[in-house]
Amino acid sequence: MVFKKLRSFNFSIEIGYFMNPPWMKYTLILAGIYNIIWGTWVVLFPHHIFELTGATRPNYLEIWQCVGMIVAVYGLGYYISAFNPMRHWPIVLVGFLGKVFGPIGFAGALYKEVFPLSFGINIIFNDLIWWIPFGLILYRKYQSTSRVSSQMNHLSEIEFSKFEDRKRARLINSLSGFKSANLIGTQNKDGATNLSIVSSVFHLGASPALVGLIIRPDTVRRDTLENIRETKVFTINHVNNDIVIESHQTSARYRPEQSEFQECGLTVQYLKNFKAPFVHESKIKIALEFKREQRIEENGTILLIGQIKDIYFPEDCLENDGKLNIEKAGTICVSGLDNYHSTESIGRLSYAKPDRKLEWI
Ligand SMILES: Cc1cc2nc3c(=O)[nH]c(=O)nc-3n(C[C@H](O)[C@H](O)[C@H](O)COP(=O)(O)O)c2cc1C
Repeated sequence: MVFKKLRSFNFSIEIGYFMNPPWMKYTLILAGIYNIIWGTWVVLFPHHIFELTGATRPNYLEIWQCVGMIVAVYGLGYYISAFNPMRHWPIVLVGFLGKVFGPIGFAGALYKEVFPLSFGINIIFNDLIWWIPFGLILYRKYQSTSRVSSQMNHLSEIEFSKFEDRKRARLINSLSGFKSANLIGTQNKDGATNLSIVSSVFHLGASPALVGLIIRPDTVRRDTLENIRETKVFTINHVNNDIVIESHQTSARYRPEQSEFQECGLTVQYLKNFKAPFVHESKIKIALEFKREQRIEENGTILLIGQIKDIYFPEDCLENDGKLNIEKAGTICVSGLDNYHSTESIGRLSYAKPDRKLEWI
C-alpha cells in the first residue's frame, strides 16, 4: 500500500517535472526578483535612471513611479507563476507581450529622439534578455496542448457506423471501460438449469438493495430472460480467476434443454432452499428476486431489476466498514466482450466533501 502510494506520488512528480522543468521555475523566479528590484528602485528613486542614462527627466515623475509600481507588481506574478508555469502561462504571455511591445515603443521614441540610446540599457535587461526563455515557456505550453491532440485519433459516428458489424460491436463494447463479469444462474419451472455470462450488472441502489442488468433484445429466445420471467428468481455469481474459461463458454448458444452448468464444467449449487441455482465455484454469490423489467425503447434491450435477498462470500472478505473485498475473493473483470482482467487495487479514498482534503484510508 505504502509502495503504491509512493509510486503514484513519484509518478505525479515525474509528470510535474516533465511539464515544468526546473529551468522554467528558475527563469521566472529570477524574472520576478528582477522586476521587484527594478520596480522598487524606480518607485523610490524615480530620477536616478534619468541621471544615469542622461535622458531628460519627465515632468511628472509620479507617472514614471507608476511604471515602476506596475513592473514590481508583475514581478510578484512571475514569482507565483514560477511554481507552475504550465498552469500560469497567461501571466507569462502578458509579460512576454509587454517585453515585445516595450522595445517597439522604445524604438519609436528613439526615432523621435525622445530618449537617448543609453536609455536602451533598460530595454536590454527589462525585455530583450527574457524573450527566449519566456518564448520557450509559451512554446512548451503550446506544444503540450497540441501534442495531446496530434497523438489522438478520432472517429465520428458516421465513421464508426461504417465498420463491419462485429468490429463496431467490439469497439463500442470497449468504451464503457472495465465491467463486472457475472454468471446469471436460473432455472425454468421444470427445474432445468441455465447459466449465462453477462457484463451489464450494475448497482441500482442500496435501500432497497437493487441490482440491474441488461438482456439483449428478445428477438430470439433468451433462456435467462424466459426463466426469470417464469420463476421470478435468479442468482448472480462473480467470475473469478479459476473459472474464466468455463464462464466465457456459457455465452455459447446452447439449446434450452442443455444446461450450461454441465456443458461448461461448472457445478450447480442450491443454498437455503432458494429456487435458482448458484455456481459452486464462484466465491461471491447473490440471490435475487425479480422485481420488474423495462424495455429500452432505443434498441429493444431489456432492463431487469432484481432485489437482493442473500449474499454469500468468503469469511475474510467483509471489511469492518461493510465493504466487501472482491479483489481478495479473486473476482475478475472484463473489457469488451472477450478480454478478461484480474485487478490490482490502487487504494481506498476517504468520503469526498467539497471542503475536506481526500485521504487514503
Ligand atoms: C463477456 C460477455 C458479456 C456478456 N454480457 C451480456 C449482457 O450483459 N447481456 C446479455 O444479454 N448478454 C450478454 N452476453 C451474451 C450472453 O452470455 C449470451 O447471449 C448467452 O448465450 C445468453 O444465454 P441464454 O440464452 O442462456 O440467456 C455476454 C457475453 C460475454 C462473453
